[in-house]
Amino acid sequence: MAEVQDRKTIEDLPGVGASTAEKLRDAGYSSIEAIAVASPSELASSVADMSESTASKIIKAARELADIGGFETGDVVYERRKKVGKLTTGSSALDSLIGGGVETQSITELHGEFGSGKTQIVHQLCVNVQLPKEVGGLEGSAIVIDTENTFRPERITQMVEGLKIRYEDEYPDIPFDPKEYLKNIHVARAYNSNHQILLVDSASQLAESLRDSKPVKLLAIDSLTAHFRSEYVGRGTLADRQQRLNRHLHDLLRFASLFDAVVVVTNQVMARPDVFYGDPNKPIGGHVLAHTATYRLSLKKSKHNKRIARLIDSPSLPEGEVIFSVTEYGIAD
Ligand code: GTP
Ligand code: MG
Repeated sequence: MAEVQDRKTIEDLPGVGASTAEKLRDAGYSSIEAIAVASPSELASSVADMSESTASKIIKAARELADIGGFETGDVVYERRKKVGKLTTGSSALDSLIGGGVETQSITELHGEFGSGKTQIVHQLCVNVQLPKEVGGLEGSAIVIDTENTFRPERITQMVEGLKIRYEDEYPDIPFDPKEYLKNIHVARAYNSNHQILLVDSASQLAESLRDSKPVKLLAIDSLTAHFRSEYVGRGTLADRQQRLNRHLHDLLRFASLFDAVVVVTNQVMARPDVFYGDPNKPIGGHVLAHTATYRLSLKKSKHNKRIARLIDSPSLPEGEVIFSVTEYGIAD
């Protein structure tokens, strides 16, 4: 509790009064940590009426207050890594493929053809994140940035009912009221890629305001790349697209570490081998995503409700394949 009471707000920064604080928040800098990791030019260009020299003073003060920006010794890094949370997918096979569940403080990418289960996994994580830790949850709330209008509250209800059947005998104290679960899932439609990028700022503000009640432990973007892909088709501005996607991913990574949250993004595979060279089933986003996402899962349809998941490019885990199912009650083995 002490940690909670000691939390400083951006008004604690020298030189930041109520009006500057408001401008900072409007630009998405709602915590001292968010300011501490910004660059002076980034801050000056996104906050109204702020010069670069003011920005760099504020950033310097934020770094001191937030105690970040310096080198850390290995044992400190180790301590932080020990705090990494794991969120269950609902399938123990899938969990073990990725080292025990979806990790906080990093980005996990789900890619695969239509119907491969990306959106279903996102729904399931929105439910599971609210569960107690003893059953693989993170006791938090979820934010979904929905670019394709595929979020379905009815599906959440079915999944909560599934968990109830699975757990109610063994854990009679866990509540399974679908309405309560829906209340802890914050969904925003993103209408284009610009809007999608801006929604990450809104997500940070929301997460900041929920820190002491129901902390946001999951941010999902379904789909990360659809808007980027459709807006840039045939414009010959692939480099520009990749640059914006790269910045967007870094915003997401920052969110993951600031809030010790899981970030999950979905990505379609390209079905147009004539547009780009190489593997016709390559996920969109190319190198940018390959370098930023810590875990990349490739999903494929199999017989009936079975799906195959393969882990690719993981820094610490062996590559492998597992089978899971998409059932009436959600993701299962
Ligand atoms: P795109 O977004 O189109 O690229 O696909 P996706 O990978 O997001 O696919 P999604 O997760 O939406 O998977 C859809 C599949 O999940 C369907 O084909 C069904 O097999 C399964 N599914 C979806 N809803 C239900 C449901 O209510 N009950 C059951 N049993 N299966 C469902
Ligand atoms: Mg989908």
